[in-house]
Amino acid sequence: MTHDAYHTVKDVFLPNEDSTIHLGAKLAELIKPGTVVTLSGDLGAGKTTLTRALLRSMGVLGRIKSPTYTLVEPYVISNLYLYHFDFYRFEDPDEWEASGFRECFHSNSICLIEWPEKAQGSLPPPDLAISLSWEAEGRRCSVRSFSKAGLACLNALETPI
Ligand SMILES: Nc1ncnc2c1ncn2[C@@H]1O[C@H](COP(=O)(O)OP(=O)(O)O)[C@@H](O)[C@H]1O
Ligand SMILES: [Mg+2]
Repeated sequence: MTHDAYHTVKDVFLPNEDSTIHLGAKLAELIKPGTVVTLSGDLGAGKTTLTRALLRSMGVLGRIKSPTYTLVEPYVISNLYLYHFDFYRFEDPDEWEASGFRECFHSNSICLIEWPEKAQGSLPPPDLAISLSWEAEGRRCSVRSFSKAGLACLNALETPI
């Protein structure tokens, strides 16, 4: 359930890839289990870069593949489940029911979702919605909160990062 009282936005300029990675690490410290994060922006905007940095900071070891064809890559860090979705190739909403994706969203999981627009209508509402766009040689990143948990995370995020 979204609520206006939880809606806030923080905006940050990310001049280079390192600053995107730094933001991912910061978010990793703040995001709690049960959080749903969407990442929007064109191809090459930095959604995967940010997600990888977040997963890495949360303790994911080894290669972090982009789930372009599989739609989701799951990770488990002790009792925390991390799901990295990329819905770029998601076409059929019926696929959602058969996929078991719904079971990925629970109180002990963090779901990071690239291309949420492609699964609109199926996805639960996000706690945080991140969007990335080009600005000069870098990226503009805005982070919006839509829930109590999202707002708490955003309030704790210090900007400039
Ligand atoms: N803040 C930034 N400024 C400039 N380039 C960036 C920044 N963040 C990431 N990049 C670069 O932009 C590209 C983003 O690719 P990727 O993360 O795969 O995008 P997406 O998942 O949105 O399609 C990478 O080549 C990365 O090095
Ligand atoms: Mg990507």
